[in-house]
Amino acid sequence: PVRRIHARQVLDSRGNPTVEVEVTAGEGIVGIHGYTARAIVPSGASTGRFEAVELRDGEKGKYLGLSVEKAVNNVNTKLAEAIVGENALDQMNIDRLLAEADGTDNKSSIGANAVLGVSLAVARAAAEGLRIPLYQYLGGCHTRKLPVPMMNILNGGRHADNTVDLQEFMIMPVGAEDFSEGIRMCVEIYQFLKIILKEKNLSTAVGDEGGFAPDLEDSRDALALIIQAVERAGYEPGKQIAIAIDAAASELYEEEKGVYYFPGESKMKGKDVFRDSSEMIEYYEGLLEEFPVVSLEDGLEEDDWEGWKKLTERLGDKIQLVGDDLFVTNKKRLTCGIRLQAANAVLVKVNQIGTLTEAMDTVRLAQENGYRAVISHRSGETEDSFIADLAVATGAGQIKTGAPCRSDRNAKYNQLLRIAEQLGENGEYQNPFKGFSEET
Ligand code: PGA
Ligand code: ZN
Repeated sequence: PVRRIHARQVLDSRGNPTVEVEVTAGEGIVGIHGYTARAIVPSGASTGRFEAVELRDGEKGKYLGLSVEKAVNNVNTKLAEAIVGENALDQMNIDRLLAEADGTDNKSSIGANAVLGVSLAVARAAAEGLRIPLYQYLGGCHTRKLPVPMMNILNGGRHADNTVDLQEFMIMPVGAEDFSEGIRMCVEIYQFLKIILKEKNLSTAVGDEGGFAPDLEDSRDALALIIQAVERAGYEPGKQIAIAIDAAASELYEEEKGVYYFPGESKMKGKDVFRDSSEMIEYYEGLLEEFPVVSLEDGLEEDDWEGWKKLTERLGDKIQLVGDDLFVTNKKRLTCGIRLQAANAVLVKVNQIGTLTEAMDTVRLAQENGYRAVISHRSGETEDSFIADLAVATGAGQIKTGAPCRSDRNAKYNQLLRIAEQLGENGEYQNPFKGFSEET
């Protein structure tokens, strides 16, 4: 059973406080027959409006209002009370009790950050107790599918202070033989991108997810630079390397006017650039014609179901359309999307929903309905590599965890390299877009 739970406040990759939870489970006397495991909770910047609630103290004089002492305290009191003595191997029951202790739909009373820390740490302690790897504990002993990384090597939007309006430009090594070769290809491209930026006297400083964040004219510029880097590294764009974009369009959307405003492009062009929903779709179609883009996340804002339907009608049979802020890892919202045929994939961020069971249920719902699932980090991350194991466990086939730079991002890639080594010949690595477009 769960014997002891303890939370503390630690720091994330942006230097903001977050919740760390330690769980001891097992028989006998704690410390002798117990298994202790830890988990640290991540945090977003371009957070969706429908996400589970991250509890912050809002105390002005402390960490600019961002301390999480209330959430920490909730773990040490209410959540400990709810699950100490319960079977650590029954994750579903643990997560149900955690959700019940909170009692709200969006985990706003105890805080999704408090709940998630416990949920993840219990799963880890259980795997430790059974002495099996976390990915096997979560996915079963036949788990062997490694994800194709979506490496965000050029950052914009809310993740950087540059003029790039779309948030993420990612490379996907779809033509790699195996996971470790995929990592090598991405790293080489990343390093060549740095060389190219230097040659052009552009900034090589990085954004929140470790990708470069130079001031560029517009998205075409960003994509053209990435293609150059792919070629300089000796790879064929569209064959070995595919491109994915996260527009994070909710961040560009202006509710009152009902249009998307591109601040960076406006600044560079010296005139205001607005696009409405259908112009956004045309804009993406233009990018698809020019560049080997296979995946587009949050192309439209989080509540424009009609727009999403149109976007999916137009592009859904050509590329992957991922709902992040649209679905927020929430089964109800995904169900709605499936019914309306909005998007064809879901981004899965454990802290958007607050428990491991709910996140895994969302993946299953997607997979049963022909939607792909992409396991994802947050822009505020830590050394915790839980999502690496989760990506393998769910067989999602894709993981989004930033550039191969900064240890908060590489913690996940390094864990996947360990898992790949452990799986050896049994490991599977597949292009998730086979049959989608001829090119990739
Ligand atoms: P966030 O960004 O973690 O800042 O929300 C990641 C994303 O939009 O995918
Ligand atoms: Zn996103």
